[in-house]
Amino acid sequence: MKLNIAVLPGDGIGPEVTNQAVKVLKAIAYEYDHTFSFNYADVGAIAIDKYKNPLPDGTLDVCRQSDAILFGAIGHPKYDSDPSAKVRPEQGLLKLRKELGLFANIRPVKAYETLLDKSPLKRDIIKDTDISIYRELTGGIYFGKKYLSEDGNTASDLCQYSKDEIERIAHLAFKAAKTRNHKVTLVDKANVLESSRLWRKVVTDLSKQYPDIDLEFLFVDNAAMQMILNPKQFDVILTENMFGDIISDEASVIGGSIGLLASASVGKKHAMFEPIHGSYPQATNKGIANPLASILSAAMLLDHFNLSVEAKFIRLAVEKSLKLNISTPDINSASDRVTTSNVGDFIEDFIYNPKDTNLNFKNIHLGHSTII
Ligand code: IPM
Ligand code: MG
Repeated sequence: MKLNIAVLPGDGIGPEVTNQAVKVLKAIAYEYDHTFSFNYADVGAIAIDKYKNPLPDGTLDVCRQSDAILFGAIGHPKYDSDPSAKVRPEQGLLKLRKELGLFANIRPVKAYETLLDKSPLKRDIIKDTDISIYRELTGGIYFGKKYLSEDGNTASDLCQYSKDEIERIAHLAFKAAKTRNHKVTLVDKANVLESSRLWRKVVTDLSKQYPDIDLEFLFVDNAAMQMILNPKQFDVILTENMFGDIISDEASVIGGSIGLLASASVGKKHAMFEPIHGSYPQATNKGIANPLASILSAAMLLDHFNLSVEAKFIRLAVEKSLKLNISTPDINSASDRVTTSNVGDFIEDFIYNPKDTNLNFKNIHLGHSTII
C-alpha cells in the first residue's frame, strides 16, 4: 500500500517520540512491502517561533494532502505561565482538529499484564481492563464562544452541541461496541448541564438502532470515581470533548503510564494519530520520554487502513519490550537506563528480526554484554 504520511513532531518530547514511530513505520513498510512517504511540517510553539503562527498554512496544506497525520505533542511553558498570551501552541492543534473535521477521538486504555504492579492502583482492580474512549473532539466548551470583559474581571466559555455533532460520534461508538463487549457508557453531567441533557436524549434515541448494545449513563463525577474503583465495568465510553480530555488522562493511570496511551482522531476525510500525553518540556532531549504511545498511535494508523496484521505485529513488539523491561524510566525502575531511542530500536529490530532471541536483543541494543 502507498501512504503519504504528514509528520508533525511539534514541541518538547514530540520530536523524539515521533522519530521512534517513524522508524517503526519504515520497518513495517520494508518488511511488508509498502511505500510510506513522510512529509514533515511545523506545528505548535516551534511554529510560533518560526512563523508567528501555531498552525501555518503550509502545515495545513501538507496535512490536507496526506492520507494520514502522525502528530507528536505541543505546548511550551513560556505560554502556560502567561495567561495573557494571545497566540498559544494549543491553538495549532485545536485548529487542525477543526479544519480537518476530526470529530472523533478514540483512546484505547488497556492494562498490560506485565505492568499490573507498576500502576498505583491494585492489580486485582485493573487486571483485564480494556476500555475504548470515544471523545468528541471538535465541539463543546473547547470551541464555543469565548468572552473576556473589558476590565478583565469576567470570562466565559460556551459549551454548545448540536444533534448532528452528537449523532456522528455516537454512531462510531455504538459500532465499536458491536465489535467489543456490546456496552456503551455515556458520560455526561445531565443533572446540571443542558448540553448534557441533549446528549442523553440524542444518544438514547439513536441507541434504538443498536438493540444489541447496552447503553448506560454515568455523571462525569461518578465516572471519574468508577474509573479507578472498578474500571473493568467499562467497554466503550462515549463523551463530550472536555470530559473525555479529563477522564482519559485519569484512565492512563490504569495502564501504568500516560506514556503508553495512543489515540486516533478521525473525521469523514482525514485521520490523525497522536499520543495522548503532552509535550513534557522538562524531559526534552533527555532520552527519558516513553515512545510507546507514539508507536502505538502508528499501529492505530495502520489499523485505520486495514493493515491489521502489521498493526498487530507492532503491538506484539511493544508487549515484548515491556516483558523484557526494555522501557523508559516512567515504567522501569532498573538502574541501567533504557532511552527513548533504545525502545524504538528494539521495536524496529523486532520487526526486522522477530526470531532473534531475547538475549540477543538485550546484548546488541543495550550493550549488556559483548558475547553475542
Ligand atoms: C489532549 C490534550 C489537548 C486537549 C491540549 C494539548 C489542547 O490535552 O489531546 O488531550 O486538551 O485536547
Ligand atoms: Mg488531554
